[in-house]
Amino acid sequence: MLHLYAKVKYPVALCPIMPAKRFSNIEISGIRKMFEGAPPDAINLGLGEPDFQPPECVLNALQNAVKNGFNKYGPIGGIPELRSEIAAKYNQIASTKSENVIITDGATEALFATVLALIDEGDEVLIPDPGFPLYESHVRICGGVPVFYSLSQKNDFIPDVNELETLITPKTKAIIVNSPSNPTGGVIPAKTVEEIGTLAKNTNIVVISDEVYDHILYDAKHETFWGRCDNAVIINSFSKTYAMTGWRIGFLVAPSQLLPHIFKSHYHLIACPPTPTQYAALEALLNANEDIARMVNEFRKRRDYIAGALNSIPGFNCLVPKGAFYVFPEFNLPRTSMELATKLVQHGVICTPGSAFGRNGERHIRFSYANSLENIKRAIERVRAVIETLS
Ligand SMILES: Cc1ncc(COP(=O)(O)O)c(C=O)c1O
Repeated sequence: MLHLYAKVKYPVALCPIMPAKRFSNIEISGIRKMFEGAPPDAINLGLGEPDFQPPECVLNALQNAVKNGFNKYGPIGGIPELRSEIAAKYNQIASTKSENVIITDGATEALFATVLALIDEGDEVLIPDPGFPLYESHVRICGGVPVFYSLSQKNDFIPDVNELETLITPKTKAIIVNSPSNPTGGVIPAKTVEEIGTLAKNTNIVVISDEVYDHILYDAKHETFWGRCDNAVIINSFSKTYAMTGWRIGFLVAPSQLLPHIFKSHYHLIACPPTPTQYAALEALLNANEDIARMVNEFRKRRDYIAGALNSIPGFNCLVPKGAFYVFPEFNLPRTSMELATKLVQHGVICTPGSAFGRNGERHIRFSYANSLENIKRAIERVRAVIETLS
């Protein structure tokens, strides 16, 4: 019952509940907003998720896990079999034990648990611009200060290590890197990975390396940060590699000096990862390599088509991406990226303005090619028709 004093001093009508300030400037992703205003027959080149089903063996493993009663809470860090399988994979690169691995609720939770565990009020974190929007919001929610480093088409969207050096101050705690990149499709080569690793070592900052697209590569090799500096936290996921976005399962690999702190924040965020999907993820790791190859092969055909087709539209200049499933063409038209994307959405092509990924994303549009080749071809004809009315 409400205390009499409280009733008199704080009448309910005068006392609205104020939400926490930490979310006052945080937006829901601009990517999802683009679905508003799309006609019913719109073609979706907006969302970043494979259009395939998860591999057959993985679907069966999930069904079996559910039927066989693996539906209860599990260990905080994930089931031992899955942790140890992931550790074995990373152990081929540098010494890794099961205790270095935490199974998470997708890469999203892995990223947030890491930032929550490491970033204090006022700590600076270097973030790619353009980059995946959650990096900035996670840092801000934790009271950190995002400091943006630029990725540009003329540099193949590869970070410039000289620029990174100029941005590091005594307050810099971490750098977030993402290769292959969302939204650019850029892949960081070995030399740059080495250089960033050395810079991090020399300045005692943590590298938070988001490697969720590490299997979705074309004519390029994935270079992990694992083993390249002592303070690298690897963020990864089953979402993109195995088309399991809705099952919310990912993982992180962290050095022993950081892991206990991240383990605590992970526990307080989700208690434990979902149990049945961990068995499906284990099956994926053990038996779904051919399915990945098939999916990447399909993505490659779409990439080749969409990059070529966009380059044939006057006003667009599209780099052929080396990884992930996005193209991020630059455009030279008298519109902002939001205006152009809105127009394309109204004409039936859901896409994302480059500005949703940061200031350097302006003058770009992101198209996801996680849709059938047939739909991509129809979408491109719509884009061509819209652009003809503008130029
Ligand atoms: C670069 C990047 N990191 C992380 C995520 C989140 O992945 P998950 O589904 O595993 O949370 C995404 C999803 O779009 C992404 O593009």
